[in-house]
Amino acid sequence: MKMIFGAAIIGLGLMTGLAYAEDLDAGKTLFVANCQKCHGARAQGGVGAKLAGDATKWTFEAFKNAVLNGRDDENRALKKPMPLFGQVGLTVPAGKVPDDTDLQNVFAYIKTFDKK
Ligand code: HEC
Repeated sequence: MKMIFGAAIIGLGLMTGLAYAEDLDAGKTLFVANCQKCHGARAQGGVGAKLAGDATKWTFEAFKNAVLNGRDDENRALKKPMPLFGQVGLTVPAGKVPDDTDLQNVFAYIKTFDKK
């Protein structure tokens, strides 16, 4: 019985690993379509702030607040043209307000540029 339980846990771990890989793909799709034109292909900055190695160190809640409400980690209003995605929704899919899964995916994707 213990062995079956152990196998189930390992199975769950593998499934989580796979889901994580898919999340990065989803995060990339979301980033390329909605953020890249201002923040750069590697989140290095452009019209928008550099995100790699900076906002990637924020808590998820602070990141979420920035994307949805246009507020930084000290709750100060971000400068335009950072969109208030919580109000206007995404460009692609048009008008969809990003949910926690979307935000976690894109946050994880942006973090992949931290080390470069
Ligand atoms: C139209 C251009 C534009 C688009 C599109 C855009 N941003 Fe921004 N973003 C900005 C600008 C400009 C700032 C900097 C505002 C400031 O310095 O106060 C910013 C700031 C941020 C910050 C805070 C960074 C910091 O250090 O203060 C985060 C996080 C962020 N953007 C995430 C995103 C994400 C995620 C997307 C896509 C869902 C996105 N942005 C799309 C222009 C944009």
